[in-house]
Amino acid sequence: MNDNIDLHKQLDESRQGEVISLEQDSTPNGKKLFLESYGCAMNFSDSEVVASILIGKGYSTTLDEHEADIILINTCSIRENAETRVRKRLENFKNRKKRQPGLIVGVLGCMAERLKKTLLEEEKLVDIVAGPDSYRDLPNLIIEVEGGQKAVNVLLSRDETYADISPVRLDKKGVTSFVSITRGCDNMCSFCVVPFTRGRERSRDPKTIYKECEELFNNGYREVTLLGQNVDSYRWNMTSKGEVKDDSIPTTSFAQLMQMVAQISPDLRIRFSTSHPKDMSDEVLEVIAANNNICNYIHLPIQSGNSEVLKRMNRGYTREWYLERINKIREIIPDCAITTDIITGFCDETDEEHADTISIMKEVEWDFAFMYKYSERPKTLAERRYEDNVPEEVKGSRLTEVINLQQANALVINKKKIGKTYKVLVEGTSKRSDDFMDGRNDHNTKVVFPKGDFGKCDYVMVKINDCTTATLKGEVVEICKPSK
Ligand code: SAH
Ligand code: SF4
Ligand code: F3S
Repeated sequence: MNDNIDLHKQLDESRQGEVISLEQDSTPNGKKLFLESYGCAMNFSDSEVVASILIGKGYSTTLDEHEADIILINTCSIRENAETRVRKRLENFKNRKKRQPGLIVGVLGCMAERLKKTLLEEEKLVDIVAGPDSYRDLPNLIIEVEGGQKAVNVLLSRDETYADISPVRLDKKGVTSFVSITRGCDNMCSFCVVPFTRGRERSRDPKTIYKECEELFNNGYREVTLLGQNVDSYRWNMTSKGEVKDDSIPTTSFAQLMQMVAQISPDLRIRFSTSHPKDMSDEVLEVIAANNNICNYIHLPIQSGNSEVLKRMNRGYTREWYLERINKIREIIPDCAITTDIITGFCDETDEEHADTISIMKEVEWDFAFMYKYSERPKTLAERRYEDNVPEEVKGSRLTEVINLQQANALVINKKKIGKTYKVLVEGTSKRSDDFMDGRNDHNTKVVFPKGDFGKCDYVMVKINDCTTATLKGEVVEICKPSK
């Protein structure tokens, strides 16, 4: 399962507990920071902003929590088990704090925002609680704690995008990177805690996005993933109704933003996540089709195959609408990988409604899916309006059915790829064997192949000769020359 997750790098809480080490680039203050991230790609991207802010204040980073003067955990609230994991981690620090009285422990991210100062009261071991829009304030919060106080900043902002902060890159490979284009979410999917933890949606200045992507390319990176909870609602200098805010500056839609970023170099691959079925426009599909370096890969979460459930989820589309979007993708971008998210056992979900999820899985045949049991989240519309009444065993058995079907579908899809040749961006030595390297094709599928006269950041053509449900294996038949 881990492989699949790594493979798809989604806005998901699956990359758990990743630890970050960085180069020092300012006058050192002698203090060491240990930064650990949970949750979706957005959180990992935010951790790069946090690291940048603190390194700018003289902190150095460490991979060893035992030598840290300050421990920061960037947390996720999406499902209950995401929070349980962090609570266990905080428990671990309790004894350390007894032994090392000066140690500062801070909780960042979505749990910080959701629980606010109750985290200080309940857990006792936490010194700092900083929500996703307060990272510029972290140096001050640390000073407050050093002065003997507890420190909280959970103010959400309507305009903070950290646009001017150049994130310190944490991906050790230096091949692919996330770039945030929006923050927050204005949708109110009834199951979802994100609007409460991340606040109102806001888009980042396109010039700063372009500049960040260009810098990444100039520093050797060959892939950027543009990130937002709903990338299709990216808009610059436009109101939600599409009216121009300021006549003196151009407006930018998501399709235009992608077109701009795609011009940086034909050798810079562009990915994006997450698309929302109610907002994904034909214009975006046309831009993907028109640009070879925008990957033929769309993550389009459906959540449920039943229109009544979708209505209760407040997703803003029906089964038929979703299927029409799929047809449109396949018409405009014939060779496009499509992936999804599915929730089983949402409030009042009947066997018949669940059967609609199974039938749509057979109809669409997604290349990959993230699949979850419904987890009720405090304060959400679903918590207030509906009862979390599908028994845990039923949620579980529906999830198992969904996972088994998805695995079977994925294997059939991958087997059809045997004999085909794909352009792959080499990411590094394979985790499984030093004799192999791996990377991803346009469809975001991991491809493994023997080492040769090429290295990471190169593009190679790989002819596929074998597969599993999550990985393709093959031989390099050509090393691509960089574009002029
Ligand atoms: N903005 C993205 C989703 C971000 S959350 C979108 O709208 O598609 C990632 C996924 O977590 C969601 O797509 C959903 O499948 C899952 N999820 C969110 N809240 C959940 C909950 N309360 N219980 C179970 N899964 C949930
Ligand atoms: Fe949550 Fe819906 Fe926003 Fe996605 S679009 S983050 S599921 S509220
Ligand atoms: Fe992401 Fe989890 Fe927050 S999925 S937006 S870190 S609740």
